[in-house]
Amino acid sequence: MADYLIDEIYKSVKGLVPNDGLCDGAPVTVEGWIRTNRSNNKIGFISLNDGSCFSCCQVVYEADKLGNYADIAKLLTGCAVKITGRLVITPDAKQPFEINATEIELLGDCDASYPLQKKRHSLEFLREIPHLRPRTNTFMAVFKIRSIISQSLHEFFRQNGFTYIHTPIITGNDAEGAGETFTVTTRTDGDYNNDFFGKHACLTVSGQLHAEPFALAFGKVYTFGPTFRAENSNTPYHASEFWMIEPEMAFCDLKGDMAVMEAMLKHVINDVLENAKDELKFLNDFVVETHDLIEKLERVANSDFKVITYTEAVDYLKNSGEKFEYPVEWGMDFYKEHEMYICEKIAKGPVFLIDFPKEIKAFYMKLNADGKTVAACDLLVPGVGELIGGSQREEHYDVLEKKMDEMGMEKESLEWYLDLRKYGGVPHSGFGLGLERFLMYVTGVSNIRDVLPYARTPKNLKF
Ligand code: 4AD
Ligand code: MG
Repeated sequence: MADYLIDEIYKSVKGLVPNDGLCDGAPVTVEGWIRTNRSNNKIGFISLNDGSCFSCCQVVYEADKLGNYADIAKLLTGCAVKITGRLVITPDAKQPFEINATEIELLGDCDASYPLQKKRHSLEFLREIPHLRPRTNTFMAVFKIRSIISQSLHEFFRQNGFTYIHTPIITGNDAEGAGETFTVTTRTDGDYNNDFFGKHACLTVSGQLHAEPFALAFGKVYTFGPTFRAENSNTPYHASEFWMIEPEMAFCDLKGDMAVMEAMLKHVINDVLENAKDELKFLNDFVVETHDLIEKLERVANSDFKVITYTEAVDYLKNSGEKFEYPVEWGMDFYKEHEMYICEKIAKGPVFLIDFPKEIKAFYMKLNADGKTVAACDLLVPGVGELIGGSQREEHYDVLEKKMDEMGMEKESLEWYLDLRKYGGVPHSGFGLGLERFLMYVTGVSNIRDVLPYARTPKNLKF
């Protein structure tokens, strides 16, 4: 093992986390992969990345100090090496330090066919090599931010009194009722009654129904895990396997629900702005065409999210003068083009869309006093569209039962869910944030396939 990560050296040299062992001239050992290696017959320079931080470290090696100079000079991009040398602090140079090598050991050779050479590769090309793309700047930035966002979400919920629940991945219900489940079976004949669980089983589309009983015990809970949807949508926004964070809160109405959504997003965005500066700068300069990523995030972190009702949105869209592919009528489920218009042209930022017609939303949402709409909320954001779907849940047994009957749902397997309305049921609310959509919003990456380590989409299961 190396005795230092490149990130530790950066932090020490910049005075962020001072380390007495890392003064000018200190002996250091680092290990990483060569990004570039150039040399003449006297001196060579390796740009080394060890994954601990976005920046590379410059390694200088000299022919009269290194016995194996000629061999090192030949090392190609992608080789793994161990560098032993002295730290040279360079306050006036572009990089704050470099390592003057006394010894360089080849740990893993890299074939000349290595696809990641020093040039820009298209995201489409990189999708074909998901096992190598984490070594590129774009994916290093995206997956570092994915990690920060995940940890930051846990931190937000922990700080705010939520208990973390692990809801099951294998389940017997289709929470959203959209018929988009992947069946889990050990049989080939579809005889589910004689199958492993003695009934039809599927991968979860949402942990919500399993989280609600815990909210009615712990008050505030959340689940955070993979969800699966056999939705045949080949779009830049849909994946068949994606991660969802789903809080559920007892004694909470839709207004309280929206306040948590907004506070959660701001907490995480501020965390990313503070802790992923290099990554955001790279994405802003090289990935986001409009170069306004950081400005956008700062603005969102300091703004109040707008709220408009579905009915108001229908009026705005109808009077917009815009020619939509799908004409707008009250009662319809909005298409992406409408969602985008609402957040990009009408609200010009994140906007809560509330009170949808009951027919287009899931059975569990609370019926409003008008008898026509439900206390649901979608948070729409520019560039992505729907980022969060949430609602207040119907807490009245009879209203919920009637709704399930109207929708032709089979109640027997959800008896336990109805029970919650019988035994100390209270108003409660929750929501689901799609992690990948949030990551797209924060990084400005425009295709969901590029924010998942190994994207699963229709006709695509390469690795
Ligand atoms: O709006 P959805 O379907 O809501 C639910 O599943 C609720 N049970 C959540 C809850 O109240 N606990 O999904 C929630 C979010 C969407 O807003 C979107 O961000 C994301 O999950 N999402 C997807 N992300 C990627 N690929 C897909 N196919 C997605 N479907 C939904
Ligand atoms: Mg939704």
